[in-house]
Amino acid sequence: MKPLTLILGSSGKTGSRIVNKLNQLNYPLRLGGRKTIPAFDWEKSEGWDEVIQGIDQIYISYQPDLAHPNSIHHIQKLIELSKKNNVKRLVLLSGRGEPEAVACEKLVENSGLEWTILRSSWFSQNFSEGMFLGQILERNVIFPKLKSTEPFVDLEDLTDLAVDALVKNVHIGKKYELTGPTLLSFQDAFGQIAKELNETISYEEIPLDAYITMLNEYGLDQETIWLIRYLFETVLDGRNESVVDDFEKVMGKKPKDFTNYVKVTAKSGIWDVVKT
Ligand SMILES: NC(=O)c1ccc[n+]([C@@H]2O[C@H](COP(=O)([O-])OP(=O)(O)OC[C@H]3O[C@@H](n4cnc5c(N)ncnc54)[C@H](OP(=O)(O)O)[C@@H]3O)[C@@H](O)[C@H]2O)c1
Repeated sequence: MKPLTLILGSSGKTGSRIVNKLNQLNYPLRLGGRKTIPAFDWEKSEGWDEVIQGIDQIYISYQPDLAHPNSIHHIQKLIELSKKNNVKRLVLLSGRGEPEAVACEKLVENSGLEWTILRSSWFSQNFSEGMFLGQILERNVIFPKLKSTEPFVDLEDLTDLAVDALVKNVHIGKKYELTGPTLLSFQDAFGQIAKELNETISYEEIPLDAYITMLNEYGLDQETIWLIRYLFETVLDGRNESVVDDFEKVMGKKPKDFTNYVKVTAKSGIWDVVKT
């Protein structure tokens, strides 16, 4: 019998891919998010018991980020309920270079359950399914001034490994650091997209404080603004400027690079500007 798997963040960038891949393998699934039935909301733990009942294993994509001060309490509570409901395995998506995420990882590692941790760099798909898409569609990027480069991870790779960790036993008790094969500045990343589209995307760098002021003027909520400052100030301070080969070692194939992501994504049409 295949285990019943709960995917938290099932409509998100990693969750939706894992759902598709496990569906293809005929794994029984329960989807977890604020609009699923039953609903799973990180802010409403009174509903979690119903979602976890009967579940054998959980893929955990936390919201908004394991760096958030509430995450440790939420992950602790999730582990307690998992044990109460006889869940056997947890696969945790974590963020590279975040001390608060490491504290959550430790809870999972010490849970007494089977676990795998995927500690990821920034996703390539942030440029097509996340926070950078709007500016690309406007062909006008205003970005905080950064010195560091980032080894963007392709989510097809990350979710191949997540699925492997949910269907095989070889990843039990393993913590993987996931990076793409190349370090790239954000400016170069936007530049590659512009080149592939054969269009101009203007790019202006401004100090982080000015960028945060701009986000406040746009009326972005304070929690998201806090997270964006944290990511640009802490995670992108240069600590993650390295490439590691965990993915290739464990999956036996090279990780996809950003150039490949750009070519594939441009063909999907998601960056095309619809002319009215
Ligand atoms: N983006 C990156 O580059 C990156 C890199 C490393 C690690 N990560 C980690 O990846 C995780 C996912 O981040 P993401 O930005 O890529 O988001 P995402 O997975 O694309 O989207 C968020 C998902 O979470 C659900 N969700 C949102 N708020 C929720 C809540 N309060 N309770 C329950 N579910 C909720 C959403 O569904 P509903 O709206 O329907 O609830 C959706 O399924 C985060 O923990 C992040 O730290 C991200």
